[in-house]
Amino acid sequence: MKTVKELLSHHFCLWLLALLVANNTTMSTSEEYQTYIIHMDQSYKPASFSTHESWHRSTLASLSSSDTIYDEKTLLYSYNHAMHGFSARLTPSQLSELEKLQAHRATYPESYGKLFTTHTPKFLGLKHSSGIWPTASYGKDVIIGMIDTGIWPESNSFNDKGMSSIPGRWKGICENGTAFSPSLCNLKLIGARSFSKGYQAGGGNISTEFDYDSPRDCTGHGTHTSSTAAGSNVVGAGHFGYAMGTAQGIAPGAHLAMYKVLWAGGESDKSAASDVLAGMDQAIADGVDIISISLGFDEHTPYFNDVIAIASLSAIEKGIIVVCAAGNDGASNSTHNGAPWIITVGAGTVDRSFVGRLTLGNGLTIEGTSYFPLSILIRNAPLYYGENNISKATCAFSSLDPTEVSGKVVLCDYTGSDNSGQMEEVQRAGALGGIFSNDKFILEPEIYSMPALILQSRDGSLVKNYVMSTNSSMVKEMKFVITKLGIKPAPQVTDFSSRGPDPVNPGVLKPDILAPGQDVLAAVRADKPEMDMGMYTLATDYAIYSGTSMAAPHVAGVTALLKAVHQDWSPAAIRSAIMTTASSIDNTYSTITDQATELPATPLEFGAGHINPNKAMDPGLIYDIHFQDYVEFLCGLGYNNKQISAVIRRSQWSCRDNASDLNYPSFVVVVPKASIYPLVMNFTRVVTNIGDDDSIYQAVLDVPSGMRIQTEPNTLSFTGKGQQQGFTLSVEISEIDASVTYGYLKWVDQHNHVVSSPIVAITV
Ligand SMILES: *[C@@H]1O[C@H](CO)[C@@H](O)[C@H](O)[C@H]1NC(C)=O
Ligand SMILES: *[C@@H]1O[C@H](CO)[C@@H](O)[C@H](O)[C@H]1NC(C)=O
Ligand SMILES: *[C@@H]1O[C@H](CO)[C@@H](O)[C@H](O)[C@H]1NC(C)=O
Ligand SMILES: *[C@@H]1O[C@H](CO)[C@@H](O)[C@H](O)[C@H]1NC(C)=O
Ligand SMILES: *[C@@H]1O[C@H](CO)[C@@H](O)[C@H](O)[C@H]1NC(C)=O
Ligand SMILES: *[C@@H]1O[C@H](CO)[C@@H](O)[C@H](O)[C@H]1NC(C)=O
Ligand SMILES: *[C@@H]1O[C@H](CO)[C@@H](O)[C@H](O)[C@H]1NC(C)=O
Repeated sequence: MKTVKELLSHHFCLWLLALLVANNTTMSTSEEYQTYIIHMDQSYKPASFSTHESWHRSTLASLSSSDTIYDEKTLLYSYNHAMHGFSARLTPSQLSELEKLQAHRATYPESYGKLFTTHTPKFLGLKHSSGIWPTASYGKDVIIGMIDTGIWPESNSFNDKGMSSIPGRWKGICENGTAFSPSLCNLKLIGARSFSKGYQAGGGNISTEFDYDSPRDCTGHGTHTSSTAAGSNVVGAGHFGYAMGTAQGIAPGAHLAMYKVLWAGGESDKSAASDVLAGMDQAIADGVDIISISLGFDEHTPYFNDVIAIASLSAIEKGIIVVCAAGNDGASNSTHNGAPWIITVGAGTVDRSFVGRLTLGNGLTIEGTSYFPLSILIRNAPLYYGENNISKATCAFSSLDPTEVSGKVVLCDYTGSDNSGQMEEVQRAGALGGIFSNDKFILEPEIYSMPALILQSRDGSLVKNYVMSTNSSMVKEMKFVITKLGIKPAPQVTDFSSRGPDPVNPGVLKPDILAPGQDVLAAVRADKPEMDMGMYTLATDYAIYSGTSMAAPHVAGVTALLKAVHQDWSPAAIRSAIMTTASSIDNTYSTITDQATELPATPLEFGAGHINPNKAMDPGLIYDIHFQDYVEFLCGLGYNNKQISAVIRRSQWSCRDNASDLNYPSFVVVVPKASIYPLVMNFTRVVTNIGDDDSIYQAVLDVPSGMRIQTEPNTLSFTGKGQQQGFTLSVEISEIDASVTYGYLKWVDQHNHVVSSPIVAITV
């Protein structure tokens, strides 16, 4: 189910995009040109071709069925790093000719993706005085590549005061283009490129009305995610006075490179898979350390057809960490980007809220949600409630009489849907302000174009009781622009965050981790009208956005800090550190709750838990995974040779034991519906000691009813750093009545390391 929040979670050009569900272009029978990504086996490249691109061009030129002569426009991109192959415009008969070549490995029809859209560093426990920030020098010398909508380079968040010099290994560039020139890059923003061939080949236009033909950001999304990951410190940032404070990225010392792959174009806002792949290919070639992706394609696509999964494995093989948003579908079985080599991020709330305060004539004071941007005060205004007419009481379309409500604050009954229509009606009728109630739907900040408060429905009833009890109900005072901290409970799993099990492979727990994704303040493009206030449009340099799009760059920033501290850690080791130190407990010391139900959430919603950067720096033990382990994993999935070769981009490999059980820091038992109990599943794992030389770890088990858990051995002794120990975890399920049951394995040593892994049983 899509909530209002999801649809409005991006600005106009983007929320249109959010409605476009990725759909694979079907092959047409007529000889029409379509874009295909062609995966080739590079071992077939004749030595006579000096580059892959010349081989690709020659292959295309040789297609005999071509009814038009091969021209420069046929080939869109030649890929060499994320995948070997190219994207091209082809007719169906040309495609079938290509597919007959021995060098052909796989075909992916073009598809289109969607986006998943300054207090958060403090909420994550980041401090200047101690912990990972100073230890990591704020992410110095690490390069984060953003695959997104572009960047607004003039934003103060990308100033390079105090930044270290550009690492010598960097090969990226800053492109010239519309309203963009290489001189806009600096020591913070060290690369900026754009990829639009696939978008344009698919009929998309880059018109000046909607977007810039350059890495410049039209929508604000890429500027927001980039400044969240690695924005410099900016004092005095706020969203029209809300959330005022110092805006800073999670890794303010890290360098940024933007790869623009999403294009806004009125009715054809799109990100084409061929462009996303080109952006990732370039990021790998340029030498980024981390790739952050806040967009995704159809979540049901198996790895061998998923270009983000394939390109990410190629990145991982080169030691590049890939962090992706899990999606904003809010439903179970809907996580995107869940390949086990990717860090998949869900969105949590933070302990901050934006409120307005209402005092009634009887002295009752109530707070409600408001993002109304002006700090005006309403005093001694009559309160209007259309109590004898249901249309008026619910502020239905065109129901209010301007002569009745003018100069008054209007109370509207809850109707079960969101309040945006009511707000429009109250504003149309010329009232002074509005009081609404809702427990379910949250409106995006830019909808609050009038003095409006949204109360919890029980508070709304209090106001209604007051109105009914007197003939002269009054609002004594209504005040706006109040930011409150310390809200409890926090974090919660946001209602829009995509939940597991992963639709492609329920056997690996996804999402991996929860990070702040609601009401995140970060930089946007500065000149864009963010709010329509009737007579005025207001623009802001910093804005509050929500989405798993916002959560992923928080984790990308944390991985940059970890990379700065532990340059030798593999992407899997960094993910392990983040997962095994995460917390499933909120600020009321209870299990993190689900915002949608207010009930305790499970690892299917929060993964290993909420990210804790300071602890991740010193996890004690690491569950590492090597490239060959992923190959064994793919063999264990029962993929055929062609499918495996598509994912690992090789024609030769061997599988020793077809182990679909990866050395993952979480455990999932998939229980088929008609199972015979008890059901036993054994997992084997190997942990590496990266903590103190002399450490003795004891297994502490947190066992739910219906499950029995054993480890063999249950003590792991280490005498030095880098030592490895294996263990078996045996899970016996005697019954399972809920759709999900879970416990924890915690390895605890004498130096306060707690290495925690969720053990989850799901029925499918
Ligand atoms: C940079 O791009 C702009 C706009 O496309 C163009 O007018 C200008 O000539 C370009 N400059 C260079 C040096 O290519
Ligand atoms: C792109 O622009 C061309 C020329 O302005 C126009 O004919 C075409 O309809 C546009 N395509 C889309 C998809 O907007
Ligand atoms: C209620 O108000 C609406 C809109 O102002 C009006 O059309 C309708 O006649 C009213 N109904 C009653 C029963 O008065
Ligand atoms: C409101 O006014 C009406 C008519 O003047 C009167 O009958 C009623 O008692 C008053 N109600 C209250 C709660 O004062
Ligand atoms: C999840 O989605 C997949 C793919 O659509 C489907 O095959 C599977 O049955 C779903 N699983 C659950 C638990 O709903
Ligand atoms: C792995 O699976 C493949 C295909 O099912 C099979 O041919 C091969 O013998 C298996 N290897 C091992 C070591 O089990
Ligand atoms: C699973 O582990 C348990 C406990 O270590 C052991 O008794 C059992 O034989 C194992 N089962 C399999 C199938 O390996």
